[in-house]
Amino acid sequence: MATYRQSWQQWQDDPEGFWAKAAESLVWSKPWEQVLDKSRPPFYRWFAGAETNTCYNCVDRHVDEGRGEQAALIYDSPVTGTIRTYTFSELQSEVARFAGVLVGLNVTKGDRVVIYMPMIPETAIAMLACARIGAIHSVVFGGFAAEELAKRINDAAPKIILSASHGIEPGRVVEYKPLLDNAITLAHSKPERCVIFQRENSTASLIAGRDLDWQQAVHNAEPASCVPVAATDPLYILYTSGTTGVPKGVVRDNGGHMVALKWSMENIYGARPGEVYWAASDVGWVVGHSYIVYAPLLNGNTTVMFEGKPVGTPDAGVFWRIIEQHRVATFFTAPTAFRVIKKVDPTGEWLKKYDTGSLRALFLAGERADPDTIQWAEKQLQVPVIDHWWQTETGWPQAANPLGLGLLPIKYGSATMPVPGFDIKVLDETARPLPAGETGALAIRLPLPPGCLQTLWQDDKRFIDSYLSEFPGYYATADAGFIDEDGYVHVMSRLDDVMNVAGHRLSTGGMEEVISNHQAIAECAVLGVKSAIKGQVPVGLAVLKTGADISEAQLEKEVVAMIRHDIGPLASFKHLRIVERLPKTRSGKVLRGTMRKIADGETYPIPATIDDPAILEEIAAVLATVDVD
Ligand code: COA
Ligand code: AMP
Repeated sequence: MATYRQSWQQWQDDPEGFWAKAAESLVWSKPWEQVLDKSRPPFYRWFAGAETNTCYNCVDRHVDEGRGEQAALIYDSPVTGTIRTYTFSELQSEVARFAGVLVGLNVTKGDRVVIYMPMIPETAIAMLACARIGAIHSVVFGGFAAEELAKRINDAAPKIILSASHGIEPGRVVEYKPLLDNAITLAHSKPERCVIFQRENSTASLIAGRDLDWQQAVHNAEPASCVPVAATDPLYILYTSGTTGVPKGVVRDNGGHMVALKWSMENIYGARPGEVYWAASDVGWVVGHSYIVYAPLLNGNTTVMFEGKPVGTPDAGVFWRIIEQHRVATFFTAPTAFRVIKKVDPTGEWLKKYDTGSLRALFLAGERADPDTIQWAEKQLQVPVIDHWWQTETGWPQAANPLGLGLLPIKYGSATMPVPGFDIKVLDETARPLPAGETGALAIRLPLPPGCLQTLWQDDKRFIDSYLSEFPGYYATADAGFIDEDGYVHVMSRLDDVMNVAGHRLSTGGMEEVISNHQAIAECAVLGVKSAIKGQVPVGLAVLKTGADISEAQLEKEVVAMIRHDIGPLASFKHLRIVERLPKTRSGKVLRGTMRKIADGETYPIPATIDDPAILEEIAAVLATVDVD
């Protein structure tokens, strides 16, 4: 087994040879002509000329190689009281049948399929079925409202939309069908058909001529085989928040994606085929795409799909119950989940009821892992707790403590070392690399390794403008941080107007766009303010129009409802305050960064360009009245 240093060196000495070797562990129907096609920079393409099929490598391959009877997917749903296991053979049969449904609806290679579904096995089956026939899926997280879904439908222009009657949140049922119908009414791009999975006790009504009943469609379908696709063909589009309300459609390929994920399972997560791997996230996010669906299956692991929450479904012992019951070896979630458990059960009483001895390591990502949370988790679980850093765009970790290559000493507050393939630098505003210990913009030298975004869906220009223009020759991560004298990467904060709420990435600009539609509001700003549980939560500040007559409590109530309606409950927007004016630069730019520092109780320099410094005291007094936890 190579060590981290050896692996890093091998990659540095011969990057293409390194990834070509990694690619040998996958099945290709046609070999590549070039490991890396560099003919059209900055549009680098991995494994050009090769053909493969991601679904074949995730499912059929394991059946062909004798793993058919091994559990591929365990659905554990405390909210419905269900536990169901699919072997690789069963998964193959379900996926092939559902691919047959899509083929029957004339879905072919390159067609888009939007998936707006809860955490049920059918969601993973639908994703794999798309991959099987070369259709491009775009999964939309269930906590998004109709307006957000409509934006994604307009951009992806799907031929088909797949959905379910409802999702289940603690204490309430989320009816998806009315949200879907509303989104389709709002969208200018209309799908030809919708296929709706009716969950138990469902009351979703189907629109004749457009909607099909999932179960009936499967019953009538013939299984479809895997279709070879180019390694460089898109596998999926996943929308993520940028600085405005217009989401960015991250495009992932087939070949590079498989190679990167498979390599990561062995070398970063140290996961061995046959073991149980559990990522407690949602398939609507990148963690769910990569580490609930694709990577564990590619590696021949059993993946767990969990429909529940860390506490309250039914209690703070649910994670430990699942680890014990399914013999989970590798566990991955967001730090916020552990903060919630720690709040409810600080002394780990629930943990004492279960045997979590199967667990080898806990991986945390999605937001900065605070040392307190890591140390608490280490003390409770008695396994290494590994913070690692990644983004929707990269699709897999760019900095990690690579368990499979031998654990490096843990430094609390650091995501450890750059992963082979990611040449991470800290740059100043002039794109000059900064010395060890100095904070700047974290950027990755091009070309990015396999698995990272190819472009933004049908928007090469925005891809270049958003990520590649600021620092020529680099991908700008939009995160700030530093690399210390030992080479450890410390990720400190976002550089743009994106906040991280309970591990969910949200745009403050998108919220401001919604709030400014309120008839009493002249202008507003949304700040991502520190929260002990969710990491950050949004707080809105609004300046009223002259003559507007509305109380702060009433305005807050109305704006909270607007955000819930237009963006969705996951925005966690609960606080709005009225202010006389917003601090601005002399050129009129709102000083959000300074206000955020005030809210977080940090020291802040008075910006030299500020129009009127006295406003900052007014803002501080208002923000002092907000209690986010
Ligand atoms: N469909 C509909 N609504 C949803 C939803 C979904 N799929 N997911 C969340 N929501 C709703 C919640 O019910 C909540 O609504 P409320 O305001 O009426 O209570 C709101 O969106 C905010 O959700 P969330 O931020 O998740 O808060 P929460 O209190 O429900 O749960 C955590 C907090 C920390 C327990 C939860 O976010 C969690 O488990 N996070 C860790 C795992 C994870 O998902 N990480 C993502 C990236 S790795
Ligand atoms: P997303 O694209 O939703 O996965 O969010 C990516 C963003 O989450 C990154 O740009 C970071 O700001 C933040 N993030 C993810 N993992 C970490 C981590 N380990 N440490 C600090 N920030 C992180």
